[in-house]
Parts: sequence; structure tokens; C-alpha cells
Amino acid sequence: MSEPFDPTDRPDGYINLAVAQNFLTVDAVQKRLLAGFASPQPASTAAYDNMKGSERLRTAMAAHMHRVLAKGDYRVKISADQLCISAGCGAILDNLFMCITEPGDAVLIPAPYYPAFDNDLRVRNGAVAVPVCGDDAVSLPTPTQLDEAVEKARADGRAVKAILLTNPSNPLGVIYGEESLLDAIIWALANDMHVVVDEVYASSVFGTTSVDERGEPVNPFVSVMVSETNLAAYEESAKTRLHVVYGLSKDFCASGYRVGVLRTRNEGVLRAMDNVAYFCTLPGPMQHAVADMLEDERWVDEFLAENARNLRAQHGALTAALADAGIPVVNAVAGMFAWIDLRAWMRESTWEEENRLWTRAFERAKVVMTPGRDCRHGVPGCFRLCFATVTMEALTTAVGRLKEMLAEH
Ligand SMILES: Cc1ncc(COP(=O)(O)O)c(C=O)c1O
Repeated sequence: MSEPFDPTDRPDGYINLAVAQNFLTVDAVQKRLLAGFASPQPASTAAYDNMKGSERLRTAMAAHMHRVLAKGDYRVKISADQLCISAGCGAILDNLFMCITEPGDAVLIPAPYYPAFDNDLRVRNGAVAVPVCGDDAVSLPTPTQLDEAVEKARADGRAVKAILLTNPSNPLGVIYGEESLLDAIIWALANDMHVVVDEVYASSVFGTTSVDERGEPVNPFVSVMVSETNLAAYEESAKTRLHVVYGLSKDFCASGYRVGVLRTRNEGVLRAMDNVAYFCTLPGPMQHAVADMLEDERWVDEFLAENARNLRAQHGALTAALADAGIPVVNAVAGMFAWIDLRAWMRESTWEEENRLWTRAFERAKVVMTPGRDCRHGVPGCFRLCFATVTMEALTTAVGRLKEMLAEH
């Protein structure tokens, strides 16, 4: 973005809070990746290898996903041959939806959701995202609401092939309750649909909603790979139709590294992914360095803990500034998002009015937010702020400017 904020050189510059990136702990990850590049590389890194990722990288990733996402649960089996590693979750989603949809098919997505999903589904596969709202912004749609969405899609002439869930949520920063997630998953499996769960924010958990018997904070995230062990009655369909997406863009402050993963037990999907993975495979030396980093479990644990502390501090500063400004915000525990509610400053509940507020924030406060409409939210007046790309000073300056702007409104 041109003319960015700088406390000394451009104190009235633009503050971009619309990009879901994390720079808070980037130095540590850069340093560790360089050490991986410097470690001796076998000649195979310069040759054609498995296009779904080298055996070493997939083994390291499977161990990481089991240890960190599934929290070492002995019931969960994640093996290298269930994984496809490509250049980012975007590429994984594109290829996966090529496997499970036909052009014109509908995919249900609980709203509000990550705005780029529409493009990810449509641009090469011609699949159509259908937003489905729950009772409120932070609730997943109930089976009845999902049934209604299917009826409507069918009336529009579309077959509904899948549901795409994101947990923890972008744009809300909440972790969905396991029960409501299971309701949605069982509903989809019972209706012969695929279920794709995007867990790209799985280890960016910085808060908690409860404490254990010793008073220790409980990490509220439960991977669907753990939930899947409670789906005995649906085991056969889960085996072929439940797919998990993960990646390093968010949890490792590394959106430029382009590391995305699919975990699926569907052998047909894996074969198809193997074919198209050729077009988006990670360079051999990069696979080597990433594997070296993931195998260093002690470093990974220390890094994730430090990153969570940084996210918590940044989120704390942002929510304190929002409270001072009287701006309501969803109570986030993961990711890098604040979902703010500016409905009290709307003259009427319309998308035009939301757009007017967004434009005023851009022009008057020089703050760039993501409008709720882009996230396919059901009600006008909410906005997403991403808090991990800028300094704490820029964050509090942004909220100070929004406060002034809203006071004039
Ligand atoms: C929920 C979600 N999925 C996927 C992506 C894309 O990730 P990647 O950088 O790995 O393509 C993003 C990026 O913001 C995201 O928020």
C-alpha cells in the first residue's frame, strides 16, 4: 500500500488492517528456516521427487499435525501417505475442489467467512460458494438452516457437493464448539456431501474460554482429526469424504513460504492430487528446509508459545483501545482478527451504509478494514480488523482515528 503509516516519517499515513498475515514472530522463523537451508542437502532436493511432497517432508508434517493439531491423541492416525503438500492452502483448496466438484456445483460455507474462498472455488473449478448464516455471527448454522440452504441451491438448479468449515474462524477469531461442528459434519456426511475443514489457524490460539481442575487455561481448539474418532457410525463416509486443510502461512508467520497441506484418507482424491500437485509443488531445497524446521520439535514448541504470547499482547492492546472507543468486538481466542460491530453508527441497516462507513474510515481515518459484506455476513455494519501485520502503536493509532471519525459521524 502506498503512503503507509510511520510514527516518525508519516504519522498521518494509511494503516492497513485488511490483510490476514502475521509478522509478529517472523524473525525467529526466518532464522530457523535459514539454518534448515544451511544444513547438508541430499542430491534428491535438486531432482524430481514425489510431487505431493518428499517422503521426509510429509513424514515431518504428519508428525507435526499429530503432535500439535491433534495434541498427540493416540487414537488419531496421521501418516505421510495421507498428505499432499503444495504451494499454499490456496493451491490445495483449488486442487481439492477440482476433485470433489463439477462446474456449477454449490459448496456451503458458514458465514461470515474468509473472502477469498469465493475465488478459490470459482476461478478454475466453476464451483459456487453459498454462504449460510447461523443464529448470530459466531454460531455455525444448524442442520435446519443447512437444509434450507440446500433447498434454495437446488431451486437455483445447483447440486450441493460439500461444506467448507474454517476452525478457528477467519474472520471471527473464535473456535467453534465441538458439538456444533460435529452437528454440521454429521449433517453433511449423512447427506452424502464432502466436508472440508480448514485448520490453518490451528496453532495460533492465544486465549482460552475455560480452565482445568488445576486452574490452568485450556486450549479450546479440537482438531476435526480428533473429532473424527467420535464418528464411529460415519467412519466409512468420513474416510472418503472428510478432508483437512492446514498450512504454515498463519501459524508460522510465513505466508510467503507457500506451504499448504491436505490430509485425506480418500485414495482416489490422493491420486488425483498427485497428478495436479506437479503444477504447484514446493521447490526441493524449500522442502528440505521446512522439514528440518518441523523436525526440530523443541524449536517448534518454543516458537508457537512465543507467537501465541505476541498475538495475545497485540490482541490485548487492540481490544483495550476498542473498549476505550466504545466499539463492540467479538471475544476472539485465536487467529489475528477482531470482528467489530459498528451498527450503532449506521444511519440505516443497508450495505450502502456499510460501504459509506468503510469509505469514511479509508478516506477520513486512513484505516483499511475488511467489510462484513466481503465476508458474506448476514447483517450490514461489521468489519474485520487484522492485528498482526502492524505494530502495536499503529494499531492503537488506527483505533484512535476510528474513534474520532465515529464521534463526528
Ligand atoms: C481460512 C484461510 N484459508 C486459506 C488461506 C490461504 O492460505 P495460503 O497462504 O496457505 O494460501 C487463508 C489466508 O488468509 C485463510 O485465511
